[in-house]
Amino acid sequence: MEKHNIQLHEVHREHEAHEGGGRACMSRRQFLLAGGAVVTLVAMPGGLTFAAQVLKGDYPKVKIGSLSALKLGKPVAFAYPYSDVRNILVKLGAPAGAGVGKDSDVVAFNQQCTHMGGPLDGTYKAQHQVLGPCPLHLTTFDLTRHGMVVSGHGTESLPQIVLETRGDDIYAVGVLGLIHGYSANTAGRRA
Ligand code: FES
Repeated sequence: MEKHNIQLHEVHREHEAHEGGGRACMSRRQFLLAGGAVVTLVAMPGGLTFAAQVLKGDYPKVKIGSLSALKLGKPVAFAYPYSDVRNILVKLGAPAGAGVGKDSDVVAFNQQCTHMGGPLDGTYKAQHQVLGPCPLHLTTFDLTRHGMVVSGHGTESLPQIVLETRGDDIYAVGVLGLIHGYSANTAGRRA
């Protein structure tokens, strides 16, 4: 498995940065994962202003699929960064934060609910580009907006798998957010 020292560009809506507890928690986790962060401002398509955090981490670079093989609204399951961490790769049909491909609509997310680890497998709703509701307490996550919670008990965004493309190939190169059950994404599962 090829090791890849990456720079992660995490983009958040400006209003998210002012939501209080959730953001403070995310920043602490990112600090633990990455050892530091630099905040800059960037302009995104659509005229919205976003804050971008540039993080450094050490994740494997793994090929997880190809652009030409993806079917609109049909998620493909894959494991990353460990064999027991379940994720989906999906072409949303709508531009998404950190989306790849010519339409910026190909994204990947972890499938364990951030509330208490409920299984989100099989809950993708193509009509609304959301994952959920979680079968335990009904949290639903918006995959066009970095996995942001749109309803339910959860307060943390769903971990987003950072993607890169090379030609038709899609690679997973990192994770934004802490995967449920892990003290750090690159340090193994919590005891
Ligand atoms: S575990 Fe998913 S909402 Fe509680």
